[in-house]
Amino acid sequence: MAKLLELIDFHYYYGNIHSVKGINMHVEEGEMVTLIGANGAGKTTTLQSISGLTKRKGIQGRILFNGKEIQTYPGSKVAGLGIAQALEGRHIFSKLTVDENLRMGAYLRKDTKNIKDDIDSVYKRFPRLLERRNQLGGTLSGGEQQMLAIGRCLLSRPKLMLLDEPSLGLAPLIVKEIFIAINEINREGTTVLFVEQNSKIALSTAHRGYVMQTGEIVMSDTCKNLMENTEVKKAYLGV
Ligand SMILES: Nc1ncnc2c1ncn2[C@@H]1O[C@H](COP(=O)(O)OP(=O)(O)OP(=O)(O)O)[C@@H](O)[C@H]1O
Ligand SMILES: [Mg+2]
Repeated sequence: MAKLLELIDFHYYYGNIHSVKGINMHVEEGEMVTLIGANGAGKTTTLQSISGLTKRKGIQGRILFNGKEIQTYPGSKVAGLGIAQALEGRHIFSKLTVDENLRMGAYLRKDTKNIKDDIDSVYKRFPRLLERRNQLGGTLSGGEQQMLAIGRCLLSRPKLMLLDEPSLGLAPLIVKEIFIAINEINREGTTVLFVEQNSKIALSTAHRGYVMQTGEIVMSDTCKNLMENTEVKKAYLGV
């Protein structure tokens, strides 16, 4: 299969702080890949560098999307290529309604006639959002906000969806619901790269995984193999 996304010897510097230290990773078209690791490993920095949300001058190395270098692109240009990101902590528009938030996700689209159908399919996927379509984003529960953040990504009809800690701060049942949805979205054809600290759910959902530790990738394999790996079990799965 073709590599949709590839990071080659990617480094990130916040000034003098060398946060990501030369990582190599890729995501194939149609795949669902996870990046796991403890606090401060560099997961968010990596994801936001792909989506154009970090300062470009901090980057060394290359980020390829469909074989094309994008590491110098600003966020708006990256979004235009079909890369959508749901941020850690979600960042939905708190003063806009659920419906308006979803519409915002479609702002770059030219095929405006299909937007309504896509909003309807988000409501079908997340019936809780339909019940709350006129409620302000800021008044939603954490789980509902995560659903809205994912829904908003879908409204851009992305080729690649990036998610930063979709499980953050959510109760186990909601986490399960969110991951079932992510799995479905992937099976319906969207390539997914997500970052997680909840290694258990991450490795039981994705196809392949990368383990990041203090700015480096220390392991990469199929999730099945990672889950059976003694070191991973001990350090990340608590078994
Ligand atoms: N704006 C910044 N300025 C300076 N250092 C930063 C900045 N943002 C992140 N860092 C540092 O870069 C490193 C990687 O941070 P990052 O947020 O990417 O980690 P993470 O793996 O996402 O962690 P977490 O699981 O806690 O979200 C950390 O040491 C962090 O302190
Ligand atoms: Mg993070």
